[in-house]
Amino acid sequence: MRILGIESTAHTFGVGIYDSSADAMLANPKAFYKAPAGQGMIPVVVAEHHKEHGAKIIEQAMEQSASDWDSIDAISYSAGPGLGPCLAVGAKAACALAAKNKKPLIPVHHGHAHIEAARWQTKFKDPLVLYVSGGNTQIITGTRKRSLFCPPFAVLGETLDIGVGNLFDAFARELKLEFAHGSIVAQKAMQGRNYIPMPYTVKGMNFAFSGLLTFASKIIPDYDENDLCYSLMETAFAELCEATERALLLSGKNEVLVCGGVAQNTALMKKIGQMADLHGAQSGTCEGQYNADNGAMIALTGYYQFKRGKAIKPQSVWSDQKYRVEMVV
Ligand code: FE2
Repeated sequence: MRILGIESTAHTFGVGIYDSSADAMLANPKAFYKAPAGQGMIPVVVAEHHKEHGAKIIEQAMEQSASDWDSIDAISYSAGPGLGPCLAVGAKAACALAAKNKKPLIPVHHGHAHIEAARWQTKFKDPLVLYVSGGNTQIITGTRKRSLFCPPFAVLGETLDIGVGNLFDAFARELKLEFAHGSIVAQKAMQGRNYIPMPYTVKGMNFAFSGLLTFASKIIPDYDENDLCYSLMETAFAELCEATERALLLSGKNEVLVCGGVAQNTALMKKIGQMADLHGAQSGTCEGQYNADNGAMIALTGYYQFKRGKAIKPQSVWSDQKYRVEMVV
């Protein structure tokens, strides 16, 4: 079975093609919206970017995978959570393709797709999940004890305010970096040597980052930029590590899967790895192209959801900006 998956929740319009008989991702092209220096994303502007690039990315995916519409068996799309206007572009494109080519349509939860892409590469069976991205930061577990990881899911802990990726992006803007992005903060953090104590907020298995952002932003004139980035990142990752450790011990799992855009950060993976080792658990993530937002993860998860009987008719297409992972059935 061959599935075409469309991702459009935020800055990325991606199209992936997954083939189940080969268990292979055949294509994964994407177009990425870059906000102008010092600015965040304006949803309607990002949606215009997706409209402009969408058809070309779909064509690229079809070409790269040597597919024609007869060889595609179903269309899946990111149904949420995300920016409303951006979700609408992907949902409309998927709906139109499914209707025109008479294919089943499969809504996919964006976070569920991040988890499945990482699980696909690590081969983890039933992990505790730390999902870390710009807009989402959660500790998630499957609720079916000792069975394969599948819905329904439970959120054991999560951010009480902003996502950890948004923390880094917002701090990059405070630093007035030319291309304000969390990955630049990560590069600067690697050059930092001196830890500056910063506000640390963990409440049970939940955590918060906005106090940390406010504090670090206020002291920018007084400290070295690299030390500030290092201290901000170290504090945020220590919070995630403490909460994940508590969830690991509570859940009794023996695998810790990290996924989402921030899982590309090697300092975070090292910290989680050391914590998991301490408790005899494995830890891992997938390669960058699947941790960054992409269509292949939507295609893969679309396949899993199709097999679970979750396909809908094109006229029933929907999306939900606040679609939570516990709502996935
Ligand atoms: Fe994402």
